Amino acid sequence: MARIAHLSDIHFGANDPNIVAATIDWLKEKQPDLVIISGDLTQRARESQFQDAADYLHALRENGHKLLVIPGNHDIPLYDVFRRFASPLGRYKRHIAQDLCPWVETDEVAVLGINTARSLTIKDGRINEEQMQLIRQRFKGVAPNKTRILVTHHPLFELPIGQGNELSEAVGRHRDALRAIADAGVHLTLAGHFHRTYAEAASKMVAEVGPTLVIQAGTATSTRLRNQEPQSFNWLHVEQGNRMELQVIVWNGEDFQRASHVGFSLKGRRWHSEQLATQEMAADEFSEPDYR
Ligand SMILES: [Fe+2]
Ligand SMILES: [Fe+2]
Repeated sequence: MARIAHLSDIHFGANDPNIVAATIDWLKEKQPDLVIISGDLTQRARESQFQDAADYLHALRENGHKLLVIPGNHDIPLYDVFRRFASPLGRYKRHIAQDLCPWVETDEVAVLGINTARSLTIKDGRINEEQMQLIRQRFKGVAPNKTRILVTHHPLFELPIGQGNELSEAVGRHRDALRAIADAGVHLTLAGHFHRTYAEAASKMVAEVGPTLVIQAGTATSTRLRNQEPQSFNWLHVEQGNRMELQVIVWNGEDFQRASHVGFSLKGRRWHSEQLATQEMAADEFSEPDYR
């Protein structure tokens, strides 16, 4: 079983330093096998904001965490038009990582990050042909017992984001991306961008995607909230691609506390979910859910 913390939308430049410090403490205590940060490390891609983000990642590495980090649309300068087009992710590469599509493989999981941030689209993301090839190639040689996880900043699906039935935009060329995901046998897609948590079987949203589970993270530390949903991140326990538990860790104004807790199991080609008690996962082991 792999224990993964999925954080997103850190937004240095528009974040709460107390919450930033609390994420470091929480992760240090829980020691996940992997920490995933799915983009928007900064608010405006400024030098000082990237420096703060780099310091944050350094602190996490100092605490022994393995990281997988990708950029988001806010990591491309918005107002500095020259830099926006000449070197959109230059500062990200200099301060955070050269690799915009990182790969982590352990005994239990294979995780690919894909950069969906683009200069031309102000806030919407895009995925290109080369990246779809990368998705197919990277997962091709992965042993079948490992959980295959794809991380993007922009969601690959149209998701409910408003109060009513309002749907978000999916990433550009998402239909092609869904085919690549199905071909690659991706079990789980993780994304951020909307500052809103969400988890659902992809097959309930689109027909052609295969058995993929979609999990969105809220913003971990930004002060810009959607629908007043508080800061949060996702705590995942992943077992061999066919069983997962998700617990949303929510900021209550003073501390992070465990909130919504859902178990997912893959039966045939369908994910089934079950609400579990909102409590500490016993010693962070799986509880025994009763699937009916
Ligand atoms: Fe964001
Ligand atoms: Fe974003």
